[in-house]
Amino acid sequence: YKRVTVKSLVDMKKNGEKISMLTAYDYSMAKIVDSANVDVILVGDSASNVMAGHETTLPITLDQMIYHATSVIRAVDRALVVVDIPFGSYQSDPKEALRSAIRIMKESGAHAVKLEGGIEIKESVKRILNAGIPVMGHLGLTPQSIYKFGTYTVRAKENQEADKLMEDAHLLEKLGCFGIVLEKIPAALTKKVSESITIPTIGIGGGKHADGQVLVIHDLLGMTHEFNPRFLRRYMNLYEEMGTAISKYVTDVKSRDFPSDEEQY
Ligand code: KIV
Ligand code: NA
Repeated sequence: YKRVTVKSLVDMKKNGEKISMLTAYDYSMAKIVDSANVDVILVGDSASNVMAGHETTLPITLDQMIYHATSVIRAVDRALVVVDIPFGSYQSDPKEALRSAIRIMKESGAHAVKLEGGIEIKESVKRILNAGIPVMGHLGLTPQSIYKFGTYTVRAKENQEADKLMEDAHLLEKLGCFGIVLEKIPAALTKKVSESITIPTIGIGGGKHADGQVLVIHDLLGMTHEFNPRFLRRYMNLYEEMGTAISKYVTDVKSRDFPSDEEQY
């Protein structure tokens, strides 16, 4: 294997090779994701939803993100590992942002960090990049601002918000970010943005013109069966399959079928 770097991602865009990205939050899952040759593993703050059961990404703490990131890093040989800086750990000021980024890099061994926003976090992005830490941007539906939006519907459908998103994308590129996640925006806008910057865009609900795609691993595997947005393609129905397997185990224990003579010492 050859390790994926921030430079290989920019090269992939240049060569027209699409980038695959998935989330992972623990060792066992990250091992499987990395072995399947996914280019980028995101330790997303979506861990707040899928791992901890919160309704939003806001409650997860920096310490909890570092715990997830540390577990993922132990499993990964090939993928680039990007870690979300959680809500409340970078918004107050650029120094806090840098401190959080340094903690993530130092304590988990991650390769890059991701922050939500454009012009609002300009100074923080600058400071983190100045410290030699690669930064990925995140524009469009930024879940840490869900209470500002009020809904999880498609963003940047109006010209004003679309224009700002375009400006933010250019700003993040100029600052030196190595990529930008575009979440839940019209496909036409993703196309326009992707064609006008040299760093890769990674879409989630951003359509086919993004330079790469990202999904939450639990969604792809069908473990989160009640979450059904249009952009989600399910490759398995693990919620059902795991339920069936576990029910069978319960039946086998109750009926004394498990363990058998061969399954004991
Ligand atoms: O936290 C997350 O999983 C994310 C992706 C959806 C991009 O930020
Ligand atoms: Na996130």
